[in-house]
This record gives sequence, C-alpha cells and structure tokens, in this order.
Amino acid sequence: MSRLRADHVTSFSQAQSAVSLELFPDTAARSGGVLSVGGVAATELAERFGTPLVVYCRETLVAQARAYRGVDSDALVVYGVKAFPSVGILRLFASEGLGADVSSLGELAFARRAGLEGDRLIVHGNNKSDAELEAAAAADALVVLDSSEEVARAHEARVRRVLVRLTPGVEARTHQSIQTAHDESKFGLDPEQALATLRVALDGLEPVGVHVHIGSQLARPDESLLAIDRLVAFCARARDELAWTPRLVDLGGGLGVAHSPKEDVPDAHTFASALVARFRAGWPEPARLVLEPGRSLVGRAGVTLYRVGATKRSGGVDYVAIDGGMSDNPRPQLYGARYHAILANRDGPAEGAFRIAGKHCETGDVLIERIELPRPRRGDLLAVPATGGYTLAMASNYNALPRPAAVLVAGGEAELLRRRETIDDLLAYEA
Ligand SMILES: Cc1ncc(COP(=O)(O)O)c(C=O)c1O
Repeated sequence: MSRLRADHVTSFSQAQSAVSLELFPDTAARSGGVLSVGGVAATELAERFGTPLVVYCRETLVAQARAYRGVDSDALVVYGVKAFPSVGILRLFASEGLGADVSSLGELAFARRAGLEGDRLIVHGNNKSDAELEAAAAADALVVLDSSEEVARAHEARVRRVLVRLTPGVEARTHQSIQTAHDESKFGLDPEQALATLRVALDGLEPVGVHVHIGSQLARPDESLLAIDRLVAFCARARDELAWTPRLVDLGGGLGVAHSPKEDVPDAHTFASALVARFRAGWPEPARLVLEPGRSLVGRAGVTLYRVGATKRSGGVDYVAIDGGMSDNPRPQLYGARYHAILANRDGPAEGAFRIAGKHCETGDVLIERIELPRPRRGDLLAVPATGGYTLAMASNYNALPRPAAVLVAGGEAELLRRRETIDDLLAYEA
C-alpha cells in the first residue's frame, strides 16, 4: 500500500500538509508555504506558464516506469497513451525502455513521433478504421484483434503480427464505465470467439499472442488474478485444440491512483508482481509478458495548478471558484472522482471547509465537494494532486475555454510539454 514518505513531511504547523503531500509527485516539497515540484516553485510556474497548468514531475515518471520495468527483466512495458498523449512523455518513457499502447490514428502518430514502432507499439481498438490498420502495418506494430471480422481486414491492410483480445467475463471492481472484461463488454472476444478467431488468423496472419485488460482505476489485484486464471485456461485450450501457444502474453494495465487521502491503492511494483507471478505459476510454457499501464505511470506525476477567483457563500456552502473545471478535468462528472487540494502559495491552519467549483455553466462543475483549507482568497493558487492521467487527455473546450498547457519539471527547470491553446486556435476551426 502507498505509504507516507518521510521526505514529504514538512515542519509546517498545518497537520494537513504532511498528509496531502503523499498524493503529490516524489519531488513535491513545501518551503515557506509554497509548493514546489521538481525544484520549481508553483508560484513561478503559474507566473511563467499561466493557469490552469498541469505540472509533470520527471522523477516520478521515471520512477514509475522503473517500478514496472523492475517486475520482470524480460517483460515489455508499454505506456497506455490514452492516459495522456504527450510526445515528450513518450520520449522519456522510450528512453526508459518502454513502448506504447495506442488506440487511434492520433495516438499512433504521437507514438511514432516519439520514435516507437515494431514490437514496441501495440495497436488496440474495438473499431479500427482501415486507415488505422494500414498505419499499424506501416509501423510494423502488433495489432490486437478485437473482433472476428477484423482478421480479413487486418490481412487486407497487410498487418503481419496480431494478438487476440480475450474477454474473460470478469467484472472489475471499478466504475462501470471503465470495466472492460465483463460478459457484455464491447471489447474483445469471449473464449469461444477468441479461439475461432485465432483459428482463422493462423491462416495468413501471424498470431503471436493473447491479451486481457479488465478495466481501469483498479484498487486491488483480485479480479485481475481471476482474469489471469481464465487467460491461462484459454492458453491451454489453444495449445490443445490448435497446437498454438502464445509467444507474447499481454496482461493489460488498470492499476489505479489515489486521488484523495481516503483512497488506498497498491504500488505499481506490488500490483504488477502479483499478476506476473500468477501467470508464471499457471502457465509453464515460455512466453514474453507485456504490461500496459497508463494511469499509474502518469497519474501521481501530475499536479494541476489553478488560480482562485470568486469566493462566496451560498446556502451555507463556502464556494471557491477556480479558473478551470470540467473542461480540463471531467473525471468528477464522468466517474464521481473525488480530488484533494492544498493552497500552493501559502500555508496555515484550516479555516473552514470549502467547495471548489469550476467556472463552467453547470452546477455539476464541482472539482471538490468539501475540503478543509486556509480560507482561499482571489489570486491564491490551488494545487490538485494526482491529475496526470485522464484529465488533459479528456479535456474539452466547453464554454470555448482553451485547453491548458502541460510542463515537465526536474532539477529546478521547467520545459513545455504542450502549449496552452489560444482563443485564436479555437476560432481557426470555424468556417
Ligand atoms: C487495452 C488497454 N490497455 C491499457 C489501458 C491502460 O489502462 P490504465 O490507464 O488503467 O492503466 C487501457 C485503458 O483502459 C486499455 O483499454
């Protein structure tokens, strides 16, 4: 389980500081009440790059990549690009030996720009277009077959190596929108269909492996272990009935991230080691494993900085409005996600419980229902931890808000990963 790191405990009086920094990146620290990440003060980042701003800690990204790489020296670790498509982060992960899992032409383009191709590129999708299959073939990527009709289409597109996505009928304990392996899932193939698809694929394609992914934001390995048992049973059937064994076995991603102090999730190494051990114990044949994490690689590495604007009391609730909201982070509305926050420019004892609302034209645009803080004032900076995954990636332009910038920080330096959109960018789409 994630533990409080001693270097995150500061000498400040506010008890909350010590607890809350646990959710922040490895390099997060506070000095004189000012939060810094990667040795750069939040106040300086906000001044230089504007707000909202997503700040990624290089050290945490690297540590998470190494935590996965350390599980099995032979395993291929691919970053689930959907968590945050960023060429800079893909390049960083590639330098740590990671590949990429992509599920659209756009994500594929990001991965290729970062220099990924061949075995280090895995192409997913429950409805791949011809263009996506052709682009996968051009990159000599591994393609994960998601339906039986895809065999002929993959062949047509000159895809060579494929995996079959197995739906093991496992209900992951997570929000139902991000379960992916239950019986009625739109993803993958049940064991009978997967076997039939494999049989057809053996004639003309090169089936190299099998894949499972049961869902996202998982807080425990139990259902993943059950899925692995079913995957092993499937491999045994494929061996017995088709004389085929997988060279590659992709165990998917899915490990969650703690967004608030109430959540407890295993660390990446513990979670992935349990999965790998279960598979190895069940399957005696040689096979290279693939791990496909997204959220757990980037989630805790990212902190979003917002500027506090209007504050008001309404019906007994103390509202604090920030300069972003559901356009830069729709997870509270989509999944009922609960976030935590601290003031990033000053410290002090909690002076009340506040509701952090966005600036959008919906009452539901609430980032945090209730949080104890020193009383926020206009101009303060609010830092929301564990916002590196599925935030900017899911951002919209609701209310014609330009999407925020993202920066990478390390060793006292900050570099732009992605610039802030401008209103001119938005107007440029208009006919
Ligand atoms: C096929 C596949 N692999 C990997 C991932 C990454 O999952 P996560 O970000 O939860 O680790 C996803 C996302 O749900 C996925 O659909």
